[in-house]
Amino acid sequence: MDAEPVVNTAPLRRFVGDFAGLLDSTHDLDQILARGQALLAGLVAQDGWLPEEFAQPNPARYQQYLLHCDSAERFSVVSFVWGPGQATPIHDHRVWGLVGVLRGAEKVQSFHQRESDGSLVQQGPTRELLEAQVEAIDPREGDIHRVENAFADRTSISIHVYGGNIGAVARATFRPNGEERPFISGYANATLPNIWDLSRTA
Ligand SMILES: [Fe+2]
Repeated sequence: MDAEPVVNTAPLRRFVGDFAGLLDSTHDLDQILARGQALLAGLVAQDGWLPEEFAQPNPARYQQYLLHCDSAERFSVVSFVWGPGQATPIHDHRVWGLVGVLRGAEKVQSFHQRESDGSLVQQGPTRELLEAQVEAIDPREGDIHRVENAFADRTSISIHVYGGNIGAVARATFRPNGEERPFISGYANATLPNIWDLSRTA
C-alpha cells in the first residue's frame, strides 16, 4: 500500500501557538482582531500545509473541518471547503471570527435586521475575498451574513478562526423574513490533523 503523502503542518502548528500567545497577552477584541488578522494573513500566504483529508469537497454541501481547538475553547481553526457554487445559509456566529482565503475566492454578503419587523436587509455590496486576503467578523457590529464560493467550476478553501469552539456554539440560521432557526454546525471530520509529530513535520 502506498504511504500517505506527508504534509508539513509546521505552519499550522506555529499559527496555533502564536494565536494562543496572542490570547494570553490581551482580552481586547480590537487587538485580537487586528493582530489575529495579521497572523492569519501569514498562514494563508503560503499553501502546502493543509493535509488533503481536510481539503476535500463534498458534492452535497460545503464542508467545515476542524483543524485545531484550543484546550480552553478560546479559539478554533477550521478549513471551509466549498465545492463549485456551494453557499452557506444566512447565518450568524455570535463570537469573533477571522476568514482567510487559501485557494480560490469567496463572496460574502452581510445583512442587518429591520428594527420594525426583524426582516433582513442587505448591508452593503457583496464583497469578494480573493486568495490570500483576510477579513475580520466583529459580532459587536452585527455578524449576519451569507458566504458562497465565488467560482461555479472549482473548489475554494478558506481558513477561519473563531472565538470559541465554533462547531459547538449555539447560533442561528435566518430566513429572509428574519425568522431564526437554532443552528449548531458540528464538524465534517471525526479526527484532527496531527500537527505535533515533530519527526515528520519539523
Ligand atoms: Fe460565517
